[in-house]
Amino acid sequence: MPRKQKKHTLLYFPKRKMNTKASQVPSFHIREVPIHGDTILAPMDGYSDWPFRSLCRELGSAMSYTEFIKVEKILSRSKQPAKRMYFTEPERPITFQIYGDDPELILRAALQIQENNPDVIDLNMGCPAKTIADRGAGVGMMPTPIKIARTFRKLVKNLRVPVTGKIRLGWDRKKNYKLIARIVEEEGGSLIAVHGRTKEQRYAGNADWDAIAEVKSLVKIPVIGSGDVKTVADIDRMKTHTNVDAVMIGRGAIPNPWIFSRLDRDQVPPEMLKQTIRKHLARCVDFYGDEDGSRLFRKNAVQYVMMQHLTRDERKEILKTRPSAEFLELLEKIYDSPIIPQPAIP
Ligand SMILES: Cc1cc2nc3c(=O)[nH]c(=O)nc-3n(C[C@H](O)[C@H](O)[C@H](O)COP(=O)(O)O)c2cc1C
Repeated sequence: MPRKQKKHTLLYFPKRKMNTKASQVPSFHIREVPIHGDTILAPMDGYSDWPFRSLCRELGSAMSYTEFIKVEKILSRSKQPAKRMYFTEPERPITFQIYGDDPELILRAALQIQENNPDVIDLNMGCPAKTIADRGAGVGMMPTPIKIARTFRKLVKNLRVPVTGKIRLGWDRKKNYKLIARIVEEEGGSLIAVHGRTKEQRYAGNADWDAIAEVKSLVKIPVIGSGDVKTVADIDRMKTHTNVDAVMIGRGAIPNPWIFSRLDRDQVPPEMLKQTIRKHLARCVDFYGDEDGSRLFRKNAVQYVMMQHLTRDERKEILKTRPSAEFLELLEKIYDSPIIPQPAIP
């Protein structure tokens, strides 16, 4: 946990995209929870932790999703869930995302974390990792629609917060996303997020935006589209193509959290870039401590400087473990080198 609770000052928040709740009509609701805005940082294990999530929220992401949390860990004495569920009030609306394969355990874990006062609880039905999917959790739930129905029925009946689900298109080519979307809606789910790939595809090929559009036309609850939104133009393209209520941005936001302010990476003024990066590193150190914070930040640092003209040695330097103050000095030196526009995504 951060040692001191700090009030967050917004370093940069472009006026035209300011999400001041009072002045705006919500874009949509998750049951009674109003959502202001149409771009949302995707839940990403290892990335959408509090330091990054809160930054993206300040830059314009319309709400926060935690990294997914294993229900067995919630029900044990593990310290990990508390770390993942940590949030600050300005981040609201906040969704806690969980995964599991047993409806009863999922319910018990959800009831427990509801005490931490999230706005929404989301069930992950999309993770393709072998250790998770093969035991019937994550996307491993999709081949068992009856289990999904049972789980949603239990959650919706017993939780006071809205329950949502995040799915893929199915396990393999026999895609069943339409059935699952209907089940989520019929059992009282309040929103469905769809990553337009199957488990078999993992992250290969293009996300199928036609399928996302099908889900949107099939259900009345809000739909979030996920997959391959990397630029500001992509946000509008996905919205037009699918008519979704909001667009989730995952990998594209890692090197460019400013996408939530509708800026492509090559449009980010150098001073803003430095301010955000300093702030990100400071939050990592605050949240994880100096050693772990700067170690964990290295993966972000490498992505932030992807568009700088880096030598091999500079790249290696970034990946070396060092105290945060030294790290910052190094990064600032690199950021002062010229930016050359390149595709922002690996
Ligand atoms: C490193 C990584 C971790 C992820 N972890 C999660 C997760 O914890 N929960 C989840 O629902 N999806 C997770 N996803 C999937 C993303 O939320 C998103 O649906 C997917 O990356 C496609 O969107 P993108 O093309 O914008 O990255 C993860 C993706 C990546 C790349």
